[in-house]
Amino acid sequence: MTRVLVTGGAGFIGSHFIKLALRRHPDWHIVNLDNLTYAGNPANLPTDPRHEFIKGDIADAATVNRVFEPGFELVVNLAAETHVDRSLRGAADFIRTDVLGTHTLLAAARQHQVAKFIQISTDEVYGSLQTGRATEESPLRPANPYAASKAAADLVALTAGVPVIITRCTNNYGPNQHVEKFIPLCITNALDNQPLPVYGDGRNIRDWIHVEDHCAAIDHVIEHGTPGEIYNIAGGNELENITIARQICRILAKPESLIKFVTDRPGHDRRYALNADKLGWKPQRPFDLTGTVEWYRANEAWWRKVKSGEFRQYYQQQYGQRL
Ligand code: NAD
Ligand code: TYD
Repeated sequence: MTRVLVTGGAGFIGSHFIKLALRRHPDWHIVNLDNLTYAGNPANLPTDPRHEFIKGDIADAATVNRVFEPGFELVVNLAAETHVDRSLRGAADFIRTDVLGTHTLLAAARQHQVAKFIQISTDEVYGSLQTGRATEESPLRPANPYAASKAAADLVALTAGVPVIITRCTNNYGPNQHVEKFIPLCITNALDNQPLPVYGDGRNIRDWIHVEDHCAAIDHVIEHGTPGEIYNIAGGNELENITIARQICRILAKPESLIKFVTDRPGHDRRYALNADKLGWKPQRPFDLTGTVEWYRANEAWWRKVKSGEFRQYYQQQYGQRL
């Protein structure tokens, strides 16, 4: 058995990655270390004897050292604070988890001589691009505390004396994404005939990739990537936010009058775009939100639970004055 540590495996991408890895690698035993923050959801976890869940904080050295005790051949670090709007309200959790947490994992990986450490980063570290596409050599120009914490983690990882590979992917969509993010928020609001809040003029551009394609790309990097290298992963689907909101209305047969333009996010990056030629890998799925919309329609209990409690309070503060 190959012992693999995946962090953040109760979150959106982490849970999809674990499910894909269990399917593709019958010889892997996966330990999933996740602190179950507001973004972590036990309902996302697979039930498989080769998956072992441990609730714990990646920034807590005692916890991490204990988890590393039996040793790992591979670490895939997906645990992070991930929501830009939350980072604008307070950066401390982002610095703690994304930077200190990554450092804490790297220190343990170094001590235990882990053979490969995959650091999951993001296209947001390159900042906004008016034209062209960022390559792995492009300057880091993070423009919000989330992106800054991820950029800092990348630099910490590259200098830790561990065989690290960094991946920087574009925006993900698919089942199990937290409702605070744009696409699930629009889908679930539309299902409830509530406003779809579009920031500014709605013409900010993101490049969207299906989460299963992203996970397949991570698996490709694990097999073919070279330690010390950075690889961009791109969906190749650059779309304006307003186009996405309109598509969701169309798929759900809801009126576009539900779309409401609201006060822009401060420092809102206009466009992210990546050149991913270095990896030489292409996603399989064409951009299509139908399956994702269907998943949220069919899994109302999942998102109603996520949308209650803490989220309701957050949503009121975020949009209460604006809608
Ligand atoms: P998510 O917010 O859905 O999940 C994050 C997970 O990390 C949660 O399960 C949470 O409980 C866990 N976590 C948070 N703090 C922790 C801590 N201190 N210790 C242990 N666990 C902790 O995030 P996601 O969208 O699945 O993103 C996963 C990774 O992929 C992140 O590193 C993110 O930067 C990166 N990424 C995301 C996207 C995207 O579009 N979602 C794109 C590119 C890169
Ligand atoms: P988001 O899902 O938060 O991802 P990120 O900021 O990491 O790209 O946002 C995607 C895009 O949608 C981004 O341009 C901000 C915009 N957006 C809205 O227009 N309205 C919203 O309510 C949210 C959450 C995001």
